[in-house]
Amino acid sequence: MLRHPGQAMTVEDVELDPPMRGEVLVRVAAAGVCHSDLRYANGELGQGYWPIVLGHEGAGIVEAVGADVAHVAPGDRVVFCFVPACRACRYCVAGKPNLCEVVAEHGAQGMLMDGTSRLRLLDGTTLKHGLRTACFAERAVVAAGGAVPIPPELPLWQAALLGCSVVTGIGAVRNVAQVRRGQSVAVIGCGGVGLQVVAGARLAGADPIVAVDRVPGKLGLARAQGATHVVDAAAEPDLAGVVRRLTDGGVDHAFEVVGRPETIELAWDVLRPGGSAVVVGLVPEGVKATLPAIELLSDKSLRGTYYGSGDPAAEIPELAALAVTGGLDLATVVTHVDGLEGVEEALDRLRRGEGARTVLLVDADLAGYPGAGTGVADPSARSFP
Ligand code: APR
Ligand code: ZN
Repeated sequence: MLRHPGQAMTVEDVELDPPMRGEVLVRVAAAGVCHSDLRYANGELGQGYWPIVLGHEGAGIVEAVGADVAHVAPGDRVVFCFVPACRACRYCVAGKPNLCEVVAEHGAQGMLMDGTSRLRLLDGTTLKHGLRTACFAERAVVAAGGAVPIPPELPLWQAALLGCSVVTGIGAVRNVAQVRRGQSVAVIGCGGVGLQVVAGARLAGADPIVAVDRVPGKLGLARAQGATHVVDAAAEPDLAGVVRRLTDGGVDHAFEVVGRPETIELAWDVLRPGGSAVVVGLVPEGVKATLPAIELLSDKSLRGTYYGSGDPAAEIPELAALAVTGGLDLATVVTHVDGLEGVEEALDRLRRGEGARTVLLVDADLAGYPGAGTGVADPSARSFP
C-alpha cells in the first residue's frame, strides 16, 4: 500500500469486500512491478489518489465470482486486464475499448466500474484500487472484464507480464504502427515495456531493429528479444545521427518507451521522411515536449497510445498462446523475483535503471516459479547484473 507518495510502500492487513455483481475475486500468484507504479509512488501521477494499493500487471486464480459473471469460474487461471471495458460506451462501441469512458471516469479516481472501492484500511478509511487492479496483494476484486482466462500451460509468474508490458508493447507495434516485414524500427528505452516492443518488432519481421538504452545491460536483453543493433545512449553524443546512419537515413517507425521529453524528441529525430513515432512512455503530468514543426512537411507523424490501442482482453489469450509455443520469451525479461515485501527494492531498481522486470511472487507455488515447490523460491536464481 502507498499511504502517501514519497513514503515507502508498506505491507499491511486490510479489508477486502467480496465481489459484487459483475466482479471477480482473484487470488494473486504473481505481479510485475512497472514504471507506472513508480510514477504513482513518486507522486508524478494520480494526485490525491492515496492511500492506494498499487499493482496492475499480474496473474492469479479465480476464487469467487459475483452475480452475472459467466466467462470465468473458481479455479480458472487469469491475467489482470486493467481496462475492463464496459462494452457499451461510445468508445467501446466504436472499437476503442482501451479508451472506455466508464474506466476513465471511475478508474481514474482509483475506483471500480461502479465508482466504489472494495478496499478499506482496518480503521475504515477507503483505499483506492491502483489502475482498477490493485494486485500487489494476496487477493484482488476486479471487474469481470479485468480477469482474462488464459491457457493452463503458461506459468503464472510469466503470464503476469501479459497484462501490462506485453499488451502495451506488442500492441504499439501491431495496432498502432502496424509495422510490416522489412521495415526499420528504433526502440528507445528497453525496460520491461520496451523489450516487448522489440519482441513485437521481431514478430512483425522488422529489420533492422535498433535498440537504444542508457544502461548497457538492457542492450543485451534487447538483443535477446531480437534487436539487430544496439546503441548505448550514455556513450553516444550524437544519438540521432548514429541511429540514422545505422538505418540508411532514418527509421520507418520509432518507439519511445521511456516517458521523457528528450527521448520523445529523439524518436522524432531518428525518423526518415514519412516515418512515424509512437510514444508509449508515460510522461509525468505537466511535462511538455517540443518538435521542429517544419519537419511535419516531410510526412513525419507522432502518435500516442494507451494499453496497446487494441482490445487487450481479446489479445491477452492470443499472446498467452504465443508464449506457450515459444513465440514470446517472457522468462528472460524477468530479471528479478521477490516476495510482496520486496516491492520497495523493485521500485528502487527501476529508479536506478537496473534489471528489466521484477515479478513479485505473492504465492510462489501458485505462480509455478522454478524451485517453488521445494520451499521458497530463490530470488538470486534469477538476478541480473
Ligand atoms: N535514453 C535512453 N534510455 C533511457 C533514458 C534515456 N534518456 N532514460 C531512461 N532510459 C531507459 C532505462 O534505462 C530503462 O531501461 O528506459 C527504460 C525504462 O524502462 P523501465 O524503467 O523498466 O520502465 P517500463 O516499465 O518499461 O515503462 C516504460 O512505459 O508504460 C510506460 O510508465 C511507463 O513511462 C514508462 C514506460
Ligand atoms: Zn504498467
